[in-house]
Amino acid sequence: MLSRTSNSSPATRHDTSFLPSALMPRIAMPRIPILLLPITLVVIISLIVLAQQHPHTAEYLDIKSWSSWTEKFYRNRHEGASRLNLTLAGNELRYQMAVAQRKEIMAQLPPDTPAFADPFASKYTLWDLVIPAFSCPFPVYRVGNMADGGKYVCGLERATHQDRCIIYSMGVERQSSFEQEILHQSDKCEVHGFDFSVTKWGPELLNDHEVNNRSHFHQYKITGKDNHNASPKEYSLSGIMKELGHDFIDILKVDIEGSEWRTLYELIASFDGKPLPFGQMQIEIHVGWTPEMKTMKAVEGWWTMLEEAGLRAFWTEVNLGDVNSVRRGPIVAEWSFINIRGNHALLNDRLPDYP
Ligand SMILES: *[C@@H]1O[C@H](CO)[C@@H](O)[C@H](O)[C@H]1NC(C)=O
Ligand SMILES: *[C@@H]1O[C@H](CO)[C@@H](O)[C@H](O)[C@H]1NC(C)=O
Repeated sequence: MLSRTSNSSPATRHDTSFLPSALMPRIAMPRIPILLLPITLVVIISLIVLAQQHPHTAEYLDIKSWSSWTEKFYRNRHEGASRLNLTLAGNELRYQMAVAQRKEIMAQLPPDTPAFADPFASKYTLWDLVIPAFSCPFPVYRVGNMADGGKYVCGLERATHQDRCIIYSMGVERQSSFEQEILHQSDKCEVHGFDFSVTKWGPELLNDHEVNNRSHFHQYKITGKDNHNASPKEYSLSGIMKELGHDFIDILKVDIEGSEWRTLYELIASFDGKPLPFGQMQIEIHVGWTPEMKTMKAVEGWWTMLEEAGLRAFWTEVNLGDVNSVRRGPIVAEWSFINIRGNHALLNDRLPDYP
């Protein structure tokens, strides 16, 4: 076994490189001949000057022209901004760089390029261009069952350890392990499920009497408008929130088997540019389950709509169970989005990291 106690062994130095410098083992400085210092200095200065003449910026992007976030990022660096604000601003900058690359490639693709082309027919698949380029500024956990049912959540403690924590779940289907685990995480949480195609929660939640008194099932259809005389009853998201007395949804889970394209379009349109009333969204996406959502361009247009509404993808997981059992392309995938607009726990730099 390698010794891990000696400060001078290369293995130890390598192993501790992630530590803050104050915790690094002290290593004796080698003696440098006095003439080397000015020479080194000249070399370093030349390198810095050269680097500024050839900035590491791709030609398609003038970094400083990007969105007010970028402006804020540069300004705040000198104004004692919080770690969270700087992280969010930096993440947004990276995100916009990914969007710029995506748009550039998309513009070169024939308009009918399929999301997942036949073998050797295209250099790109949809999931090469649409990527989770935003980084959640808190720990990311996978919540719920392994395989189908689990979802990646950003900053779970922040979302759940508040005075009140509201989870909405559109499409309850057969699986409630995600909702069940969140209810166990905090007794402040309540879960509301909406599904007009079934009559109750999945078995995990139904049989868990410790927490299922904080779960509520509604046989409603969530769309863009309120039509309570329809069968099933139709609700807009703001309509149902008003009826249930909620002003914010901490986690919105959407698993509606291909209806997500239309539903999200109607839901976002109904807010007319105002910030969406949820902190994050876990959504299963089914490419090509509706005939109009088979091409790169169609999905990319929809994705841009989510982005303009303030949603930023931070995680994805292709449903490999689906790929394997049906032997088809990766057309079903879980995606997690954080909402960078509005005021909520994931954007609030006055909350403790672990409430
Ligand atoms: C962080 O950003 C929020 C929202 O823009 C702002 O209200 C807050 O004052 C900022 N915090 C600091 C320390 O600058
Ligand atoms: C729900 O049930 C649990 C276990 O029986 C109980 O401890 C808790 O107080 C109940 N909560 C509510 C909101 O009724």
